[in-house]
Amino acid sequence: MKTIIEPFRIKTVEPIRFTTAEERQALLRQAHYNLFALKSDDVLIDLLTDSGTSAMSAAQWAAVQQGDESYAGSPSFFRFEAAVKELMPFKHVIPTHQGRAAEAILFSILGGPGRKIPNNTHFDTTRGNIEAGGAEAHDLLIEDGRHPDREHPFKGNMDLAALEAFLVKHGADVPCVMLTITNNAGGGQPVSLENIRAVAALARKHGKPFLIDGCRFAENAWFIKAREPGQSERPVKDIVRDMFAEADGMTMSAKKDAFGNIGGWLALNDDDLALKARNRLILTEGFPTYGGMAGRDLDALAQGLKEIVDEDYLRYRVRTTAYLTEKLHALGVPVMRPAGGHAVFVDARKWLPHIAPLAYPGQAAAVALYEVAGIRSCEIGTVMFGAKPDGTEAPAAMDLVRLALPRRVYTQSHADYIAEAFEEVARRKDHLKGFQIVEQPRLMRHFTAKFARI
Ligand code: F0G
Repeated sequence: MKTIIEPFRIKTVEPIRFTTAEERQALLRQAHYNLFALKSDDVLIDLLTDSGTSAMSAAQWAAVQQGDESYAGSPSFFRFEAAVKELMPFKHVIPTHQGRAAEAILFSILGGPGRKIPNNTHFDTTRGNIEAGGAEAHDLLIEDGRHPDREHPFKGNMDLAALEAFLVKHGADVPCVMLTITNNAGGGQPVSLENIRAVAALARKHGKPFLIDGCRFAENAWFIKAREPGQSERPVKDIVRDMFAEADGMTMSAKKDAFGNIGGWLALNDDDLALKARNRLILTEGFPTYGGMAGRDLDALAQGLKEIVDEDYLRYRVRTTAYLTEKLHALGVPVMRPAGGHAVFVDARKWLPHIAPLAYPGQAAAVALYEVAGIRSCEIGTVMFGAKPDGTEAPAAMDLVRLALPRRVYTQSHADYIAEAFEEVARRKDHLKGFQIVEQPRLMRHFTAKFARI
C-alpha cells in the first residue's frame, strides 16, 4: 500500500472551539498581537509548538498509574533511567522538569563571563541560559542551512571548518561544544551521523566535552536512515545509539521526542561534572531520583521512549510534515525545503517582501493566519532572535513562521484546512502590514513582547 496512515486509532477526543473572524480580531487586540498571550481555548488548531503537546498512548496512561511518588529511590526513576540508557548510554542521567532546566544546570557549571559556546544553532532557551550567565552563544551552521530554498539532506549540519577555526581561535574560552538535533531554530533540519562524528572528533581533538541537545533525536535518526548513505537498512534504535555514543553528555526536553507532556534530563559521562550538576539539581529541581518530575511523569517517559523509536510511527510522523510542506509549496508559499521533522517553516521574509525584517514579516504572517483561520503558529525570526544582549536590534538570519505539529494529535483534514487558510492569507498578503514592538523584556522577548501594527 502506498498511503502512509496514522499508525494508531483514536480512543479519546478533545473538542476544539470555532470562533468568528470578529472575535479573533478583538482577541488579537487584547493580546497585543502576541500569539503567546492568546488563551488556547480561543485557538482552533494550535501549531505554536510540538513541545509537551503530544497525545499520550494508552500504554503511557497505564504507566502513569504505576508511578511511585517516593521522594528517594522510586522504581519510576529506575524505569526511566533504564529507558534513557537503552538509547543513550550515558553514565549519569539527571532528571529535570524540562529541557531548559537541564541547560540552566549545565551552564551554571560550564558557563560564565568570557566563555564561548558553539552550536549548529542554539535554541532560544539555550542561548538565553548561556547569555544569562554572561557567556556567549555562537551559531556555526553550514551555509546551506541558512537558505530556506536550498535543497540539502542535512541542513542542520555544523560548519566543520568554522568550528575548527573557532576552537583554534577561542580554545581556552570554550567549555564545551554543542550540537542540536534536529536543528529547531534552523527549520527542524537534521544533522547527519557523519557530521555528528566529525563534530565529536573535533571536540575530542581540542579536549572539549561534546554535548548533544537531543530534543528531537528520533526524528533526526529517521532522517539519517532515510537519507544517509549506508544507513537505510539499519534499525533506528541502532542509529540513535550511534549518535549518542559520540557524545560526552546531552540535554533533553522530554516534551518532544519522548511523548511527554513535561520532563527532561541532563546526561553526562564525567563523574565530577555530574556531581556538580546533581548538587545544583538538589538546589533548584529536586532530589536526584525525581529531579523536577513526579514519579508518574518518569513512568510516562519510560514508555514514551519505547514508542518514539517505532519506525511505523516515525515514517508517518515525517510524512505529515512533508505533506503540509508540499501543499504549501504547491500554493506558491515559500517553505523551508526539504521538510524538517517536527514543523513546517514558512519563509516570511520571502513571502512578504514589502515588510522589512525589522517590521517583523514573520509576526505579520503568523497574526494573519490566526485572524483568517484561528490557527496559532510561531514567529522564529527577528522577534525571537533580533535583540542583542547590548540592547541593540538586528535582523535575524531568517524570518520564518513555524507551524509545529504536535505528535499524534492532528489528522490529514486538519492539514488540508491549514493549507486552505494559507490560500486565503495569500490572497490578502500584499496588504498585510508590519509590526513594531511597544514593550519588551531584556531576555527572550518573544514570549511577552507587546506589538502594534505599523
Ligand atoms: N532545545 C531545543 C532544540 C528546543 O526546541 C527546546 C524547546 C529546548 C531546548 C528547551 O526545552 O521547552 O523543555 O525547556 N523548544 C520548544 C519549542 C519550546 O517550541 O520548540 P524545554
